[in-house]
Amino acid sequence: MKKDFDRASLIRRALAQQKEAYAPYSGYQVSAAVLTGSGTVYTGVNVENASYPAGICAERNAVFHAVSCGERRLTAIAIVAGRDGANVNFPSPCGICRQVMREFCNPKEMTVLLAKSPEEYKEMTLEELLPESFGPEDLARG
Ligand code: THU
Repeated sequence: MKKDFDRASLIRRALAQQKEAYAPYSGYQVSAAVLTGSGTVYTGVNVENASYPAGICAERNAVFHAVSCGERRLTAIAIVAGRDGANVNFPSPCGICRQVMREFCNPKEMTVLLAKSPEEYKEMTLEELLPESFGPEDLARG
């Protein structure tokens, strides 16, 4: 069943924050807005570093922002990305970010919006982006 939330406004939240991306090395500005079980939205942008591996993706910053504020259940995420204010492609979250999202959701129900604009986006589940995933349940002691 399609989840009932305003997709365009979640994408707008990501777009509004994209200008804060710190990406002087790649020139690729990414922004993400996470919707949580409590109905609150948390954003994050990519933050790069002169020591390249020290940088972090927008999706992880958004998830860690939510978790740092006490959230433990994610229901959707909108992602936008591009150069010079032009989001010409549908962004695809990296593998590490997919795994980080996996920790705090039901992958079959987690909606991922890969957006160019509030009107133009691809909608997927995390399960589709990260099939047969490993999660907290796998560590449960039997
Ligand atoms: N990036 C993200 O923020 N999210 C992704 O899923 C892919 C890559 C960032 C990391 C780096 O700052 C820049 O995009 C180029 O890789």
